[in-house]
Amino acid sequence: MVIKSVNLEIVCGITSTIPITDKVEIAFAGKSNVGKSSLINALMNRKSYARTSSSPGKTQTINFYNINDLLYFVDLPGYGYAKVSVAVKEKWGKMIEKYLKKSQQLKIIFLLIDIRHEPSANDKNMYEWIVYHGFHPVIIATKYDKISRGQKDKHIKMIRNGLGADNSTKIMPFSALSKEGRDEIWELIDSLFED
Ligand code: GTP
Ligand code: MG
Repeated sequence: MVIKSVNLEIVCGITSTIPITDKVEIAFAGKSNVGKSSLINALMNRKSYARTSSSPGKTQTINFYNINDLLYFVDLPGYGYAKVSVAVKEKWGKMIEKYLKKSQQLKIIFLLIDIRHEPSANDKNMYEWIVYHGFHPVIIATKYDKISRGQKDKHIKMIRNGLGADNSTKIMPFSALSKEGRDEIWELIDSLFED
């Protein structure tokens, strides 16, 4: 898809109602700092339209990016951010769950996992939660530039086993630095719009 326009159109805080939209929605979930906003920027061909940060907990709202007036990228707040109180974590968890339940337009959920590490208990919970809500998430193994090529298969296997995902679950390596994996991710999104 050629990117003609991107626009941060809807920002939902803890107390906002989840909007009902009339466009395909694609959501990005994953723990804080895993690279959700960086992936969204890479897909939009923008350097820093979605705000990123080296300290976790940057995105604290649900952000809807309108792409070409055709679809939304939905940037979800990261989970597992230690500095947030238990009460706030719970509110966010509920809001993400409400979004998963309510959205009529959600076609793909990308669940981002750092390619270097074994999935955490939170990652596993998120994966199971997504599956419980009837979605088949696509796993993006982020920060691919941080491991050597030869380690790729081993790390993908570690992620698959750690999540308890079967072989039908796609796990796609991606690097926001080298942009490796970006074309494959776009192919998947584009396939939603083929007749
Ligand atoms: P929250 O909004 O806090 O949930 O984080 P996020 O998942 O949106 O992460 P973000 O995109 O802000 O990236 C977090 C940090 O990781 C930043 O310092 C990014 O530059 C870095 N980062 C993201 N993707 C990559 C990658 O593919 N490779 C490397 N080396 N660094 C990355
Ligand atoms: Mg973010």
